[in-house]
Amino acid sequence: MLGQKEKLFALLGHPVKHSLSPLMHNDQFKRFNLPYYYHAFDVAPKDLKDAVNGMKALGFSGFNVTVPHKVEVMKYIDEIEEDAEKIGAVNTVVYEEGKWVGCNTDGIGYVASLVAETGEALKDYRVLMIGAGGAARAVAVGLARYGVKELVITNRTLSKAEDIVHHLPGEGTYRVLDKKEAEKETPTFDVIINTTSIGMSPNLEETPWTVDPLKPNCLCSDLIYNPRMTKWLKEAREKGARVLNGVGMFVGQGSAAFERWTGIKPDTKRMTEVVHSHLK
Ligand code: ATR
Repeated sequence: MLGQKEKLFALLGHPVKHSLSPLMHNDQFKRFNLPYYYHAFDVAPKDLKDAVNGMKALGFSGFNVTVPHKVEVMKYIDEIEEDAEKIGAVNTVVYEEGKWVGCNTDGIGYVASLVAETGEALKDYRVLMIGAGGAARAVAVGLARYGVKELVITNRTLSKAEDIVHHLPGEGTYRVLDKKEAEKETPTFDVIINTTSIGMSPNLEETPWTVDPLKPNCLCSDLIYNPRMTKWLKEAREKGARVLNGVGMFVGQGSAAFERWTGIKPDTKRMTEVVHSHLK
């Protein structure tokens, strides 16, 4: 039986051994003197339903969901917020008024990390996003909600980019371009975002996009944070671009989840330090 003020939070994923979420959240709970605890559970896909029911039975107050459960978990919770529905995935679940409510903090978390770099200028920016998988969908919805001047999506499989654009909220200018067309426009983009796994092990020596030429002061953003600096970000930095790695998105999604659970804005600077200090 938990004490009245004590609360439990969790991460459900497979695998979760290397997740930095427990460190990041427990450190913040300590900083705000909250008697809360966050634990990562390795849950095989066949056990997800039981695990979610276990969260309910044991009185957890909320949980995060990561690979490979972000889509499947939607079957086992009571409500899904509009943006999570649009993204087609849930990464954060909150216990509200007797119900498990699923939301997605990946997109807003990513945009928060971008705004920390660009400020309000982001609204006037033309953005190119490479990739159209699950992470890309969250980023696109986040950018559409924020309202950028233009969002162009390119992907190896163009139909997936078209599907994302088709479901985006708002009245923004959204376009799909194939690689050749998008490459020609490279020097016109203020932000270029890589959402693919190109640059991550085992593709460490590959780059997702050209850096020659880039718009002066272009911001190149890679969702990858292991390695901290992908080959593409290193090349972009050498060309004078601003660069942002995936730690920002990781902290951003965690920060937004923390706020949903506690009503408190966490110290994102400290969260970033905690993550950096544990990354190789
Ligand atoms: P995540 O959840 O991390 O977004 P995902 O949904 O599997 O992962 O999406 C991976 C993205 O990386 C996709 O856009 C994929 O392109 P396709 O839609 O054509 O599959 C892209 N991707 C992965 N490996 C790639 C490669 N070698 N070249 C080009 N694109 C690649």
